[in-house]
Amino acid sequence: EKVIKIGLLGLGTVGCGVYKILEENKESIQQRAGIRLEVKKVLVRSLDKKRGVELPEAMLTTSLADIIEDPEIKIVVEVLGGVNPTLDYVLAALNQGKSVVTANKDMVAEYGEQLFAAAQRNQCDLLFEASVAGGIPIIRTLKQSLAGNQIEEVFGIINGTTNYMLTKMTQEGSPFAEVLSEAQAKGYAESDPTADVGGFDAARKIAILASIAFNTRIPLSQVYTEGITKITVDDIAYASELGYMIKLLGIAKARSEGVEVRVHPTFIPKDHPLAAVGDVFNAVFVRGNAVGDTMFYGKGAGELPTASAVVADIMDAARDIVRNVPGIIGCTCFEKKPVLDIGE
Ligand code: NAP
Ligand code: HSE
Repeated sequence: EKVIKIGLLGLGTVGCGVYKILEENKESIQQRAGIRLEVKKVLVRSLDKKRGVELPEAMLTTSLADIIEDPEIKIVVEVLGGVNPTLDYVLAALNQGKSVVTANKDMVAEYGEQLFAAAQRNQCDLLFEASVAGGIPIIRTLKQSLAGNQIEEVFGIINGTTNYMLTKMTQEGSPFAEVLSEAQAKGYAESDPTADVGGFDAARKIAILASIAFNTRIPLSQVYTEGITKITVDDIAYASELGYMIKLLGIAKARSEGVEVRVHPTFIPKDHPLAAVGDVFNAVFVRGNAVGDTMFYGKGAGELPTASAVVADIMDAARDIVRNVPGIIGCTCFEKKPVLDIGE
């Protein structure tokens, strides 16, 4: 029987979800992957905190070395968030020859180049499906299923928190601060929710999607970004009178002169499919020159939807380790394309 041991960095919303899925779906995961996956150690900040899952006390540690320096641990799952000290932790794991699965769009969007180089150098997988659109398998789709296309555009609702907020503001007329607190209580928001409401989380995600779709590297600083902080219940009511819904969209288009990448609130006609995407759901449209129009829909945040994407990546990383081919399907072959200045 093949067994792969996992080190989990973080046991918050997503970390608990990953642990739950690996436990609850243990048998079907083993059948599908042909490998038994076992969490060996979990890094947290506080050993005393009450957790959303029950696990043996000895499994928790506050020392990164317990994971990074354990030769039995082959896959490190990073669900801590942020860049500092997370980037150093992930680079340390890759440099120890461990494959890494992460849900961290901040880190991938800003430091992707450095991370992929480290993964390639150490022949490890670096997988990040959960970093964009929660449970929707959009990264795998762009990298694999639509790989034969030239992608012309990718756009959609890619932040669950703001979509939840705009939906509640539209349907119930609830004020901004109240719906933001609800989204935080449900585990949808980032630890600093300014990232959600300011559009920065969506900007990181569209930068990642556009980089993969257009085989380039989109610097975050070149993504025009406007969030929903100025949107009021009155704006939503006026939009509705005119036949529109307001949605925060991430948009990336290939133009002959370069690539256009932006995030901003957008008027959507009420009969457009995106207008029906409510609550914490996300939806991503992709147009390829061979496939035509495609649309992907699902929960864009939350414990289990996000963990679903993380677990699929763990299974892929485990298969690659067993076949001795980690690091072969990377995301490293970027040609630099100009990013167009969208202006204000
Ligand atoms: P969270 O609930 O705040 O959990 C973070 C966990 O990491 C906590 O267990 C915390 O430990 C631990 N941690 C943080 N910094 C640490 C450090 N320096 N050393 C040791 N442990 C540390 O966050 P989350 O919502 O699960 O998000 C995790 C990641 O997933 C983020 O990158 C986020 O952007 C991404 N993500 C989240 C969602 C979502 O719906 N929540 C969806 C997609 C992607 P303590 O518990 O001891 O404090
Ligand atoms: N805060 C993010 C969101 C989590 O609301 O979409 C999922 O990436």
